[in-house]
Amino acid sequence: MNDEKSLPPALSRGAHGLMLEDVALADIAARFGTPTYVYSRAALTAAFAAYRRALGERPALICCAVKANSNLGVLSIFAALGAGFDIVSGGELARVLAAGGHAGRVVFSGVGKSRAEMRQALAAGIRCFNVESAAELERLNEVAGESGIPAPIALRVNPDVDPKTHPYISTGLKNNKFGVAFTDAPALYQRAASLPHLRVRGIACHIGSQLLDPAPATEAARRILDLVDRLATAGIALDHIDLGGGLGIRYRNETPPTIAAYLAPLLELFAGRPEELCLEPGRSLTGNAGLLLTRIEYLKPGGEKNFAIVDAAMNDLARPALYDAWHDAVTVVARDLPPRRYDIVGPICESGDFLARARDLAVEEGDLLALLSAGAYGMSMSSNYNSRPRAAEVIVDGGTIHLARARETPESLYALEQPFPPT
Ligand code: LLP
Repeated sequence: MNDEKSLPPALSRGAHGLMLEDVALADIAARFGTPTYVYSRAALTAAFAAYRRALGERPALICCAVKANSNLGVLSIFAALGAGFDIVSGGELARVLAAGGHAGRVVFSGVGKSRAEMRQALAAGIRCFNVESAAELERLNEVAGESGIPAPIALRVNPDVDPKTHPYISTGLKNNKFGVAFTDAPALYQRAASLPHLRVRGIACHIGSQLLDPAPATEAARRILDLVDRLATAGIALDHIDLGGGLGIRYRNETPPTIAAYLAPLLELFAGRPEELCLEPGRSLTGNAGLLLTRIEYLKPGGEKNFAIVDAAMNDLARPALYDAWHDAVTVVARDLPPRRYDIVGPICESGDFLARARDLAVEEGDLLALLSAGAYGMSMSSNYNSRPRAAEVIVDGGTIHLARARETPESLYALEQPFPPT
């Protein structure tokens, strides 16, 4: 069931049906087709501003996690607000620069940075490499030496705090692939300080995503600050502390803390400290600023279940299939019909291709549906499975519509392929 009382900000229902800012979603479908991702500039800006406001006067850098939404239009909105960016690949760095982001505000996370990615990031002049292993430290020192550009580094330390979120998106525990063990960090910092082509700058951690309680993040920060103080005593001074991302959003009936409430206990821990605070929010910046607009192709009533077969699929929005994640599904134009219970499924040949299950909807074939809270890890996790051209992306700004990504064409999907030559 969908509770229309709790539509995310920027969404409203008026005479023209569901509106994002001042634009009717039905108009977007008519102009750009479906499926289409639709983002609200006002909602993106408001989320960023909430972080800024909560951080107040404290020296802080908000590095938007590019993996959550990597569209150039979205990145450029954040870049214009003075954001930094958290990247995990050379591809994301290229996107940030193409969107007008400053390399000097980029931090590079990820466990598998290649030599080529290291060279690319050094040449661009990024702010910091968040190094995730002893082997990466050695490799980065070599690549920096060859490039003649010293590498600024932080170690991503694993504070071993349980974030109490979905196991696939919890990253700060001992038994996962991310970061270096808390107990190994002091020796690794000494090693880093001794390597000629590295410049030790900071420390980083990230314990998981979709966090609904500030307590684990606060506990992680407490452990990190304790480590920072011990490192200072050992002669290693750090100038920034990166606490990663993780704040959750409301998808269904969750009650995440506000950005201000999430940050308040962290800011208390940081009171009076000189280090710059870095954050890497993703979902909380873009998640509820976007939706996936899709059209019902067929209604297929059945004995056990009724299916609403839509033109979006798991290749467009993978979260339900991957994590059994919930996205509200709301009709764009309300109908005066008795609701029926539907599974909303796509055209892909997999039983796991569902977008929502057991939803009560008053719909007819051809109706538009909006899958909400799809602005983070939606398009950025999409694929071309079943040779489906990826969705268009648009950004609304008041009453105007900006096409941020044209819909792919079938030809573009095989543009890099060649038939095997006849023998
Ligand atoms: N920093 C690092 C090092 C990360 O690994 C992540 C997310 C973030 C920042 C941003 O976290 P956020 O603020 O968005 O929670 N695909 C999953 C989420 C995977 C998150 C991976 N890391 C999903 O759709 O729920």
